[in-house]
Amino acid sequence: MKRAKDYREGDVEYEFGVPIPGRILPPEQWVKTAIKRLPPPGPIDWSAVFGREAPLVLDIGCGNGRFTLASALRRPEFNHVGLDILPVVIRYATRRANQRGLSNVRFLVCGGHEFLENYVAPHSVTEIHVYHPQPYKDPEKQHRRLLTPAFLALVHRALVPGGLFVLQTDNPAYWRYVRPLVDHFFHFQDQEGPWPDMPEGRTRREIYARLKGLPIFRGYGYARQDLTDEDATALAARLPPPVFSAEEDRDPLEEGRTRCSHRPKPRRIRRTRRR
Ligand SMILES: C[S@@+](CC[C@H](N)C(=O)[O-])C[C@H]1O[C@@H](n2cnc3c(N)ncnc32)[C@H](O)[C@@H]1O
Repeated sequence: MKRAKDYREGDVEYEFGVPIPGRILPPEQWVKTAIKRLPPPGPIDWSAVFGREAPLVLDIGCGNGRFTLASALRRPEFNHVGLDILPVVIRYATRRANQRGLSNVRFLVCGGHEFLENYVAPHSVTEIHVYHPQPYKDPEKQHRRLLTPAFLALVHRALVPGGLFVLQTDNPAYWRYVRPLVDHFFHFQDQEGPWPDMPEGRTRREIYARLKGLPIFRGYGYARQDLTDEDATALAARLPPPVFSAEEDRDPLEEGRTRCSHRPKPRRIRRTRRR
């Protein structure tokens, strides 16, 4: 399989048979989209970073950056920042944005919670997108879950009044946990079916999950304007932490069958000794 660096001008890249948005431009049109080192904590001046004032879109846990790339191509009038804790995925995402000449994109390595807490000025972001945050099925790692009440309060704080929050997962337990919580911070509604702008899937994980036949839970909402930052923080402290089992749900039909089983008992096979 070709790696990102093996692609040449004009190539269309694919993942799971679906083209990655955009085409590789001639090298003289490439740009630099990496923020390689974060400054000391403090609100980042995005107009200085991008060299222009424009509404800002964040993609938190962006993975290979599929959504960010597509959105940046489709909406050149928006600035986009994709971030992830994993340097390798950011390297891929950055190379693709560079080669597509996307001067309205930056990628960086940082945890989503820390980024919102330390680098984003209150009420400065127009949209925040979170697609398929890792559910961390191992109970020892569940403390790493991104979606917590405090994180939601930070999303609310980061968004401009009425700013958009988009959330999606293929883990039923994560959705069951977070869905009631988001209503506290956002006027939120479920999205039935794929997003109209990318019906084949907005992200790599969405495409993969659909290939596997997993359910996808999607929704979006607007930051509540009747909630102050102080109230949001106090509210977050009262809401439950993400402590739940993220293992796949058992098939309820299977469970029912086991409970009132009419299946015949397996016959015991008598072993006879060979003479
Ligand atoms: C299942 S992948 C989904 C990637 C992409 N959003 C998609 O839908 O294809 C989850 C991503 O979240 C990243 N991640 C995990 N914890 C994170 C955190 N605290 N902050 C930012 N990114 C995180 C992982 O490195 C991984 O790339």
